[in-house]
Amino acid sequence: MIVRFDSVERLVHWTNALLFMVLILTALPLYFAQVESLVGRRALIAEIHTWTGVILPLPLLIALSGSWGSGLRADIRRFNLWTKGELKWLMTAGKNPGLEMGKFNPGQKMNAIFVGSSIVVMFCTGFVLGWFNFFPLSWRTGATFVHDVFAGAIVVVIAGHIVFALANRHALMSMISGRISKLWASQRAPRWLAEEQAGHPEI
Ligand code: HEM
Repeated sequence: MIVRFDSVERLVHWTNALLFMVLILTALPLYFAQVESLVGRRALIAEIHTWTGVILPLPLLIALSGSWGSGLRADIRRFNLWTKGELKWLMTAGKNPGLEMGKFNPGQKMNAIFVGSSIVVMFCTGFVLGWFNFFPLSWRTGATFVHDVFAGAIVVVIAGHIVFALANRHALMSMISGRISKLWASQRAPRWLAEEQAGHPEI
């Protein structure tokens, strides 16, 4: 077995998952009048949604702010590094049979980039929605539109992420225990396994 995710990375992942779930569930009655009439207590739900949103960036920021975040920082550098083969894989929806994968495949990299950027977008637009008195009306209109469009995209991407995770139990277990078998790595991430065995990661 080799270490795929350290404890800080796993803590950030599951804390984010929890915060995103609370945000999505509390967003339903805020957006759909039918759900609101079923659930009631709109003011309380809006309050929970807003304050969960305010703390959303904190796990990531705290993890990145010290020596404990070295594993996370290394993986973020991996998300930013794209080989020509990986770009081709992305353009052809996974058809580049000769491609040797690194720690993350291009789909996983896109997922991480999208989720990371959506935290920034949802925080900024949510801030305008929550403290609208400080902003002109046109900002509030624009922020509502962007917040809603991203909310829809987030639900689709997270649903896809969960489906892929459930279909690949070894990868899912590695986000729980932190470890994965060398056999899995040799089949799914040979470039990463080679880096690990050489003891000098490319990043
Ligand atoms: C997973 C992330 C998020 C999702 C899916 C989401 C979704 C939504 C949706 C669908 C609405 C209803 C908008 C409308 O009425 O048209 C809403 C409202 C709102 N959101 Fe978010 N949001 C997220 C993150 C955030 C964050 C990070 C903040 C940060 C402050 C935030 C603050 C707000 C506020 C203040 C409102 C208005 C509440 C009200 O109507 O009183 N949201 N959100």
